[in-house]
Amino acid sequence: MKTIVVKCGGSVLSELSEAFFDSMKELTEKGYAIVFVHGGGPEINSMLEALKVKSEFKNGLRVTSKQVLKTAELALAGSLNRQLVRMLEKHGIQAIGLNSSDNGLLQADFIDRKQLGYVGDVKKVNSQFIQLVCNEQLLPVLTPLAAGPDGTVLNVNADHAACAVANALQAEHFLMVTDVDGVLKDGQLVAELTEKETEELINSGVISGGMIPKVQSALKAFSDHVSKVHIVSGKKAFYEQGEWHGTKFIKEKVTV
Ligand SMILES: Nc1ncnc2c1ncn2[C@@H]1O[C@H](COP(=O)(O)OP(=O)(O)O)[C@@H](O)[C@H]1O
Ligand SMILES: [Mg+2]
Repeated sequence: MKTIVVKCGGSVLSELSEAFFDSMKELTEKGYAIVFVHGGGPEINSMLEALKVKSEFKNGLRVTSKQVLKTAELALAGSLNRQLVRMLEKHGIQAIGLNSSDNGLLQADFIDRKQLGYVGDVKKVNSQFIQLVCNEQLLPVLTPLAAGPDGTVLNVNADHAACAVANALQAEHFLMVTDVDGVLKDGQLVAELTEKETEELINSGVISGGMIPKVQSALKAFSDHVSKVHIVSGKKAFYEQGEWHGTKFIKEKVTV
C-alpha cells in the first residue's frame, strides 16, 4: 500500500484551509493510504494557562510533570483529535481518531525522567493495527502520546511521533504541515534542502525553535523507503495537479 504520513502541526490545526483538504482528497483519490499524526502546542499552552499550571521547554521539548501530562492528554485526545476527525469527515474523508497510548500504538521510553519528566522517545509502533485501519478505507488520526514503561503515559513531540510512524510504516512520503510555507531564509522559501545545508542553517541560527525538531525529523525519516519528505503550509494547497509546494528534502547534490 502506498502510504503518506501527514504530521499536522498544532500551530495550524484551527487554520487548515479548504485548499488543504482539496489537496488531501486529490491524494486519497489517487489511491494513497493516509495516516495523520497531530500536535497541539498552542491548545496545550492555553489550557495550562487557564489552569494556572506553569510549563517550560528544554531543547524544544515540553518539560512534562504529572499535571502537565494530564492537561496535554485532555487537549490532545479530548479536544484536538476530535476536532481534526470532524474536519476531515466534513470534507468527505472518513477518519477515525486513535489515542496512541492505547493498544501500544506508540510505545516509548523516558528520554530523561529527571530533566524532562514524562517525555518519551518512540521505540516501537503498532504498525499492524494502523495498517488494519487503513485497509478498512479509514484515515487514522493519531495523538502524539505513547505507552511508557509500567503503565505510564508519555508525551512525545509530535514531529518525533510522526517520524517514528513514517519509518515504521515504511511510508513513501512524510509530509509535515505547519503554519509557514516551509523552511524560510531571509523571508524567502527554501525550495530544496540537503542534510548538509539543513545542518548549516541550524548552526547559523536561521532554523530555530519549533523548526528544529521538524527538520531533524524530516532528515531522520528521509531514506530509501521514505523517499519524499516535505514541509508545507496548511493554510494553502500543498499539492496541485501532481506538483508539490513547500520545502523538499533531497540527497546531497552531485557536483561535477
Ligand atoms: N527558518 C525557519 N523557517 C520557517 N519557520 C521557522 C524557521 N525557524 C523557526 N521557525 C519557526 O518554526 C515555526 C513552526 O514550528 P512550530 O511552531 O513548532 O509549528 P508546528 O505546530 O507545526 O510544529 C514557525 O512558525 C516559525 O516561527
Ligand atoms: Mg512544533
